Amino acid sequence: MDSSTPKKIFIQNFGCQMNDYDAERMVEVMHRQGYATAATAEEADLIVINSCSIRDKAEQKTASAAGRYRELKQFKPGLVVAVGGCVAQQEGERLLRRIPVADFVFGPDLIPALPSLMARVSKKRFAATEVIEVEDYEFLDADPEPSAVKVTALVTIQKGCDNHCAFCVVPTTRGREVSRPADEVIAEVARFVALGAREVTLIGQNVNSYHGIGSEDGDDFAELLERVDAVPGLLRQRFTTSHPKDFTPKVARAFRDFRTVGSWLHLPVQSGSSRTLKRMVRDYTRAEYLEKIDYLRQLVPDISLSTDIIVGYPGESEAEHQETLSLLEQVQYDSIYSFEYSARPDTPALKLRDSVHGPIKKRRLQEVQTLQRKITAARLRRWIGRDAEVLVEGASKRGAGQLCGRTRGNELVHFSAPVGGDEKALIGKLVSVHITGAGTNTLIGQMDSDVVRRLPLIAAHREADGAVH
Ligand code: SAH
Ligand code: SF4
Ligand code: F3S
Repeated sequence: MDSSTPKKIFIQNFGCQMNDYDAERMVEVMHRQGYATAATAEEADLIVINSCSIRDKAEQKTASAAGRYRELKQFKPGLVVAVGGCVAQQEGERLLRRIPVADFVFGPDLIPALPSLMARVSKKRFAATEVIEVEDYEFLDADPEPSAVKVTALVTIQKGCDNHCAFCVVPTTRGREVSRPADEVIAEVARFVALGAREVTLIGQNVNSYHGIGSEDGDDFAELLERVDAVPGLLRQRFTTSHPKDFTPKVARAFRDFRTVGSWLHLPVQSGSSRTLKRMVRDYTRAEYLEKIDYLRQLVPDISLSTDIIVGYPGESEAEHQETLSLLEQVQYDSIYSFEYSARPDTPALKLRDSVHGPIKKRRLQEVQTLQRKITAARLRRWIGRDAEVLVEGASKRGAGQLCGRTRGNELVHFSAPVGGDEKALIGKLVSVHITGAGTNTLIGQMDSDVVRRLPLIAAHREADGAVH
C-alpha cells in the first residue's frame, strides 16, 4: 500500500450498543492494518454495513443501505463492501444472494478476523459465520485512538444471551452468553479513563446474569459494579440491559451505595400483562416486576427509569393491552422505547399465530406513545427549579456558549456556560446546572459563575481520591 494515501474504512452502523461497540473495534482492527477512517462512504475503500435484525424494519435497512452503495461500486471497482452484524449471522450465504453488492458477509464473532477476510476478497464471494465456542471466546480489547475517546465510553462485559424470550432473534444471532473476565473489564475502564473518558456504560444483553468473577454470594454483577466504582478518576458508570428476572436487591443497593452508579435504570418490561409475559417467556409477572421497582424506589426515590414495550404480541387481547397502559401509569417511567411486535426468523413466537392485525398494533402503539409523552413531560418538569449534577459532554447543538451533558438520571441537559469562562475546560467535569425549563425530551438550564468556582472542586476531589462516596 502507498503509505502516503492510506486506504479508508467507513462503517454504516445499525442496531444496539453491541453494534456500536463492535463498530469501534472493527475500525481499530483495520487501523492496525494501516487503514484510516473515512468521513463519508464516497471516500472509503472498505464499507462495512453493520446490520441489525431485531425487527423486520431494522433488517430492511441493510438492503436499502446496500442499494445506495451499488452505484458507488460501479465508479470505484476496488471498493469492498462487507455486511457484518446480526443479519449477516442470521442469513449467511442467503444474504449474498439478496445483496449482490456485498463482497462478503461476516458474523459478530469474526471481527478479529476482518484482515484475513479482506485478504480472501476476490471474485468468489463468501459468507463467514463461524461461531466461536464459549470456552474459546476471547473478547477483543478496545484500543482506541486517543482522539476518538469521548467523555462517555462503552465497555462490553458480556456477549450473547442465554434467555429464550419467545419474540427475540438475539440468542440466534449472538449465540451463547459469555462473560468477560472482570480484570479485563476493569483494565478497559481504566484505559478509557486514562484517555479522558469520565463515564462508562457497561453493556451486555442481560448484564445482571454476568458471571465473570465467581463471587461468594453469586451476585457477580453487583460485585463488578463495586470494582468499577473503585477505578480512580471515573465519575460515573451506567449499565444496560438489565433483565428484570435477574435484577437483584444487591444491584438495587448499588444505586444507593456507590457514588459512581448513576440514578438511571433501563429495565425492559415488554408488557404489563402477566399472561402476555408468560407467552413471551420472560419469567416474571407484573407483580414481581413492580416489587423490584418499589424496592429500588424505596432506596433511591428520585431514580429515573426507562423501559421497552412491545405492543401487539401474538394473542394480545385488548384487556392485556390496557394492562400495559396501566403499568405505564403506575410506574411513571421517565422514557420508554416502544415497538410493534415483528415476527422474526427462527424464534419460538412464530408458533403462536401473529393474531393482532396491523391497524390494531398501530393504534395500540399510538396509545402507548401518547400516554408516555404526557408522563415524560411531567417527569421532566420535576427538575425545573432544581440544581442538577451534570457531567459535561461537549458543545450543545443549540448554539455558541451552550454546552450539553447528562444528569445522574441520564436526562440530557442543554445549558449556557458562564460568560467569559473557558467552556472547553468544563468538558468531562461534574458541574451544577440550575434547571430552568424542559423540552419534549431534554432539559434546559444555566450554570452561574459561582457554581463554576464551587463545583469543579467536586470533580477534582474525586479525580484525586478515586472512590469517594
Ligand atoms: N436484551 C434486552 C433487549 C434487547 S432487544 C432485554 O432483554 O431487555 C431491545 C428491545 O427490542 C427489546 O427489549 C424488545 O422490546 C424489542 N424487541 C425485541 N425483539 C422484538 C420483536 N421481535 N418485535 C418487536 N420488538 C422487539
Ligand atoms: Fe432477547 Fe430476551 Fe436475550 Fe433480551 S434477554 S436479548 S429480549 S432473548
Ligand atoms: Fe440488533 Fe443484534 Fe443488537 S439484532 S439489537 S444489533 S444484538
